[in-house]
Amino acid sequence: WQGEEAETDYVFKVVVVGDSAVGKSQLLGRFAKDEFFFDSKPTIGVEFQTRTVTIKRKQVKAQIWDTAGQERYRAVTSAYYRGALGAMLVYDITRRPTFDHVARWLDELQAHADGSIIIMLIGNKSDLTEKRAVPTDDAIAFAEEQGLFFSEASALNGENVEKAFLQLLEEIY
Ligand code: GTP
Ligand code: MG
Repeated sequence: WQGEEAETDYVFKVVVVGDSAVGKSQLLGRFAKDEFFFDSKPTIGVEFQTRTVTIKRKQVKAQIWDTAGQERYRAVTSAYYRGALGAMLVYDITRRPTFDHVARWLDELQAHADGSIIIMLIGNKSDLTEKRAVPTDDAIAFAEEQGLFFSEASALNGENVEKAFLQLLEEIY
């Protein structure tokens, strides 16, 4: 008999960061359980979900940590980032300030995470095309300059969510 644990070859810790209400929790819910909630509440403290995927014939368990974008609800930062191999840095394409704050999130990653952490910038809510406030080209230029992977995505309709998480996990591998 082999339990599920016995079949896991690797565990990759990934953290999700970004301003409040950009859709961090919904992106995670979409990837881990294929769920989405319109009325999701702000995260308080730290939560995590896992999903096991196959990469190069190995079972990789992604352990994805999610915390509050709002400072007052955030958990102890060093514990949150400890051991993280990858990060999803999320902004909302309909709110320019959430993109302008990406530099601050990068500073935080630099201060608390391992120097070799792989970072993917995610422009979420790509379904809200009419409300777009951040041109895709601005994000591409910024990501190139900072050496980040980049994708736009929508937790609502699922576009690029699986693809982005899988790309990050493959880059970690
Ligand atoms: P904090 O936990 O406070 O840091 O916020 P968060 O980044 O986890 O945001 P959350 O996932 O809770 O989503 C915030 C709001 O945005 C909710 O009302 C979601 O339904 C909505 N939302 C999240 N993703 C999308 C998306 O891809 N498209 C649209 N249209 N709405 C989204
Ligand atoms: Mg949340």
